[in-house]
Amino acid sequence: MRKPFVAGNWKMNTTNHSGMTLARAVAEGCRNSMLERMDIAVFPPFVYLRSVGRALADSRVAVGGQDLHWEQKGAFTGEISAAMLKDSGCVYALCGHSERRHVMGESDEIVHKKILAAVAGGLLVVVCAGELLEERQAGRTEQVVRRQVEAALAGLSAEKLGAVAFAYEPVWAIGTGKNATADQAQTAHAFIRGLIRNSYGSEAASETRILYGGSVKPGNARELMEQPDIDGLLVGGASLEAGDFIAILEASAHAKGIINRE
Ligand code: PGA
Repeated sequence: MRKPFVAGNWKMNTTNHSGMTLARAVAEGCRNSMLERMDIAVFPPFVYLRSVGRALADSRVAVGGQDLHWEQKGAFTGEISAAMLKDSGCVYALCGHSERRHVMGESDEIVHKKILAAVAGGLLVVVCAGELLEERQAGRTEQVVRRQVEAALAGLSAEKLGAVAFAYEPVWAIGTGKNATADQAQTAHAFIRGLIRNSYGSEAASETRILYGGSVKPGNARELMEQPDIDGLLVGGASLEAGDFIAILEASAHAKGIINRE
């Protein structure tokens, strides 16, 4: 069975103080709730990685970077390398979040270079992919997701695929309060798994985790996680409230049958 993986993307939110308070509350909630059989992570702003990491010390919650640059070092003002993320305690890196793609203008090629740099730097990568509303309405969801996933995986060896998880995040569902239905998400996840199968074979496809992201809340987490191809959740807004994030973790664990306590 794929180990469920639930992560909180804090985006450009929190202060140092509120981030540490949130991290401590998340660590505490995870301690109490028998979530041993899940991977849990938070993605704080770069400048708080160390302090949030300290607040999470001895907990089950890992930290990750929301982005990185593809070069190892040099004259790239304002950028952060894979080695710097590692050095700041990161286990994970996000690549190709839709806000990077559509607000910061990152191309498939840039996302691809970042994925290769992150994997080469020893990070586990969560690669985001998803269509815009007009692309869905025009019936182009699969075409867009195929292009993003194939570009992401180009040149990645089967061995390195083990360091990659995907997050299907339909752009129209992010921060809008309008999540994809469980059926819509399951269809897209099965499609992504099929793409991985085509390139790497059935075993690799059955081992690769695919998370859903976009307006995940305590009230919809369980139904989403009950879908066979949804292996985890990437949570934005609701991860800023410890109680909501813990409730999402618990709903996920229930959905995958790894907590029996109601
Ligand atoms: P949201 O964001 O949960 O606030 O919709 C999800 C994401 O962007 O990862």
